[in-house]
Amino acid sequence: MQSQDSVRADEAMALDPVSVSTGGFMPPPSAGMRHEERAYVVSQRFKDRLLDVICLLVGTMMLYRSVSDSFYPGYIQRQLMAPIFLGGAFGIYLMYRRYRIGFWIFTALNILVGYWFIFVLEDIWYHHVLPHIVFSALFLPFYSDMKPVGGLATLKDRIADVGMKLLERPWPVRLLAEFPLLERWVNRLVIDGAVSRVRSRPHPWSNVYSYVSWRGLTDRTWSARHLPAWTPPDGYQLPDAREVAKLFNRPTGRQTFCKKSTCLFPAFAQYLTDGFIRTSSDAADPHRQRRNTSNHSIDLCQLYGLNDLHARLLRVAPGSPHTRGLLKSQIIDGEEYAPFLFAGDELDPQFKGLDLPVGLDDLHKECEHEDPVIREDARSRRAALFAFGGDRANTVPQTSMINTLLMREHNRIARKLGELESKWDDDRVFETARMIVIVEFIKIVVEDYINHITPLAFKIRADPSVAWTAGWNKPNWITTEFGLLYRWHSLIPDEITWGKTTLPVGRTFFDNRLLIKGGLRGAFEDMSRQPAGALGALNTAESLHRVEVLSIQQGRFCELAPLADYQAYAHIPRPRTFEDISSSPDIVEVLKACYASPDLVEFFPGIFSEDRVKNSPLPQTILRLVAVDAFSQALTNPLLAEHVFNASTFSPYGMQQIEETSTLSDLLRRVLSRKEAATIGYVGMTRHDWQRE
Ligand code: HEM
Repeated sequence: MQSQDSVRADEAMALDPVSVSTGGFMPPPSAGMRHEERAYVVSQRFKDRLLDVICLLVGTMMLYRSVSDSFYPGYIQRQLMAPIFLGGAFGIYLMYRRYRIGFWIFTALNILVGYWFIFVLEDIWYHHVLPHIVFSALFLPFYSDMKPVGGLATLKDRIADVGMKLLERPWPVRLLAEFPLLERWVNRLVIDGAVSRVRSRPHPWSNVYSYVSWRGLTDRTWSARHLPAWTPPDGYQLPDAREVAKLFNRPTGRQTFCKKSTCLFPAFAQYLTDGFIRTSSDAADPHRQRRNTSNHSIDLCQLYGLNDLHARLLRVAPGSPHTRGLLKSQIIDGEEYAPFLFAGDELDPQFKGLDLPVGLDDLHKECEHEDPVIREDARSRRAALFAFGGDRANTVPQTSMINTLLMREHNRIARKLGELESKWDDDRVFETARMIVIVEFIKIVVEDYINHITPLAFKIRADPSVAWTAGWNKPNWITTEFGLLYRWHSLIPDEITWGKTTLPVGRTFFDNRLLIKGGLRGAFEDMSRQPAGALGALNTAESLHRVEVLSIQQGRFCELAPLADYQAYAHIPRPRTFEDISSSPDIVEVLKACYASPDLVEFFPGIFSEDRVKNSPLPQTILRLVAVDAFSQALTNPLLAEHVFNASTFSPYGMQQIEETSTLSDLLRRVLSRKEAATIGYVGMTRHDWQRE
């Protein structure tokens, strides 16, 4: 993709009916430019405050008139003025919220007041009418600072916002629970509303060319994109990536913890995204960062591999009726785990053909380190790598933990199906168990994970029928933007405790020994006991800083448009000042040092600079875009299709297992021995001590 070919973001908006104009970019930066920018910020702030004061004064007058006119006993013409003044106050409130429609409501009602005075009350016109003309004129200089109404689409957004706000409160949710049919309908509306915030697939662009092309529309080895390639304004140079990366360093040296999430949340997020956000790791490919190796679905490739060959290598060979459909496993200290990938220093030949763990070369190098302590430790970690389908599932013990849980669940279901369906062959038992586990996983994604992420008190349900007739039910295709906005590395705390051992997180990479030592139940309890880091700028653990730099570089290599364009695309107001992006003076300081204007803040650093949404662990643009993809990807899975999601696909037993699964804790209890399950501690993504804000 040539940058000179790049379609400018404003052209993109013309192509894209949902997007709004990018607005004018500031001229190329210079010392003078920075100064002008500061001047712009100050005057804009002053104008903002002035408008607030005018709204307050005129609004109070309107309210006063509304109350006083309703006390004109027996004088109906005056009493009828009360709702008109009240409407005027409402118009002012909308202007206070910076909506242009407020100006038009207020002005229309002022004209009505004038008409009423002159023709109904036959009053002296200049005495009462003139001030109303002046009132409207007062707001005129601020008109351009207010947002356009944007027609029905925006009205729909506003109604959706109000509805969502209601669902953040427990009492309407409790009320809804009394009416199951209404609750189902609201569930549909919530999901539909979340997905419809942006254009639905297929996206016109992918990373192959900057323009729309047949290859771009069909070759899914190139990542798709929500907005087309963007070139900076003439003469403008993006700031040094190392300067921008400072946005992820901690100035205080102290980590901030997330108020809502435990470490089980990042563990699940990382495991989930490893399955479908799969930028190519082929170092020989110069376009690597624009390409992917994803199947673009929730297919649990972490467990079953990316293709049929991987699945065959991971399965127990057919032969015995008692092992039909099983994944290979081993027992360590009475617990079931995947087999080890290495036999001694060599790859176990039975697993030749699997995708090897990403980062294994570095581990091999450590295994040859001259320092015997480092060398032996690395060899022992290598010996404990599991033979998993996913090349990223061994990265940290947290991801191994979730894969182990799902592997046990697969084998539990396969054993049961083997008992119940004596006529089924090996393949059918395997395929059916696999489908059941994938759907259970999707249910956990929606009902455990997404419900943890949303600020709603309303619990969203994974109802497959929501997608059956939805206009957004189109095949999935992972976008570059999704791959970057999901890099939640600041959720990882500096230190992590496994059993009685607390280690800097950098010392836990590739270390399955920690999982094996504490066992599966202990691992889940450990992760559920510890708070995650707060997602956002100035909070990434040192061992993950280099990943943030790589992410900034990937965003540039893929020529992503600035944050402001994505906000407009997702129907979020564009930032007019840096303070609109973040309320943290420390973050604003770094942004100002790097960018000449809030319009130019890049996508990746920008989305992590925003404030966290109340009652959610995520900032606003990430939250909105994650919701879009979460539902439009999870619920469009082929296993949930209208003519697939039934008992003849999954068996009556499978349907029952799916029905009974909603959280990770549900699965864990099933795969543990009865004794262990009876004494299990808290397992969950939400902190035990979390309270709604
Ligand atoms: C200690 C834990 C973690 C480690 C060691 C780790 C490490 C890495 C590394 C080395 C990369 C590749 C960077 C590059 O080449 O550009 C990466 C990418 C990524 N990470 Fe993490 N990560 C961790 C936690 C997480 C978490 C909690 C999430 C949350 C969802 C996450 C999401 C991602 C995503 C989406 C990518 C991009 C993957 C791709 O495009 O292929 N990571 N991570």
